Amino acid sequence: MPPTTTLQSMSWRYAVKKYDTEKKLTSEQLNLAKESLRLSPSSTGVEAWKFIHVTNPETRAKLREAAYGQSPITDASDLFILAPHKTIDGAFVDTKMNDIATLREMPVENLKGYSDMLNGVIAAHGENLSHWLAHQVYIALGVAIANLAANQIDATPMEGFDSQKFDEILGLSELGLHAQVILAIGFRADDDQHATLPKYRRDAKDIFIER
Ligand SMILES: Cc1cc2nc3c(=O)[nH]c(=O)nc-3n(C[C@H](O)[C@H](O)[C@H](O)COP(=O)(O)O)c2cc1C
Repeated sequence: MPPTTTLQSMSWRYAVKKYDTEKKLTSEQLNLAKESLRLSPSSTGVEAWKFIHVTNPETRAKLREAAYGQSPITDASDLFILAPHKTIDGAFVDTKMNDIATLREMPVENLKGYSDMLNGVIAAHGENLSHWLAHQVYIALGVAIANLAANQIDATPMEGFDSQKFDEILGLSELGLHAQVILAIGFRADDDQHATLPKYRRDAKDIFIER
C-alpha cells in the first residue's frame, strides 16, 4: 500500500537491501534528494559537509568492494556519500559570514555575535571537533530519508564500509573530507524479502519517559 500520510510513509520505508536496477529517479526526484540534504539543519548552521553524488559505475563497483559487497552501492539508482570536513577554522567562519551578509544585504559586522559564537564552539570542541562535525551529517541523513519516504522513494543508510578505502577511492583526504555515511536511493526490488517483514521497533512505553 503506498503511504498517504507522513506516519504511514515512516512505516512504509525500510532500509532496502535489494534494489530494482531498472528503476531510476527522475531529475525531479533527484533534485528532491539533493535539496533535502542541502536544506537540512545543522548545529549552529555550520554545514561543514559535502555530499558526493557518485555517478561513475566503475567507482561504484570499487566502493561496493570496500563495503563488503553490499549491493545497494551499485544497484540503487543514486548513491551519495555524506562527508564532513575533518576540521574547520576562522577562514571557514569568515566565508560563511560574508555569504550570509551578502544574502541578507546587511553589513558583515552585524553578524559578529554569530561569528564569535561559532569560533567559540570550534575552540571549545578542541581535539573533538571532527566528532562534532561528523555528527552533523546524520541530521541530513535523517531528514533526507524521511523526505524521500514521504515521496515514495526508497533509501538505505549505510555505515558498513571501510571509510579509509572510501576516502582513497574518492580522493577525499586531499579535500579535507572524510566518508562518514552512505545514502543509497532508488526503488525496492519486487523480491526484496525485507520489504514484507513486520517492522520491529521498541515499544513506546519502553522509550519515552516523563519527569
Ligand atoms: C547510520 C546507519 C547505518 C546503517 N548501516 C547499514 C548498512 O551498512 N547496511 C545495511 O544493510 N543497513 C544499514 N542500516 C540500516 C539499519 O540496519 C536499519 O535502519 C535498522 O535495522 C532499522 O530497520 P529499518 O530501517 O528497515 O526499519 C543503517 C542504518 C543507519 C541509520
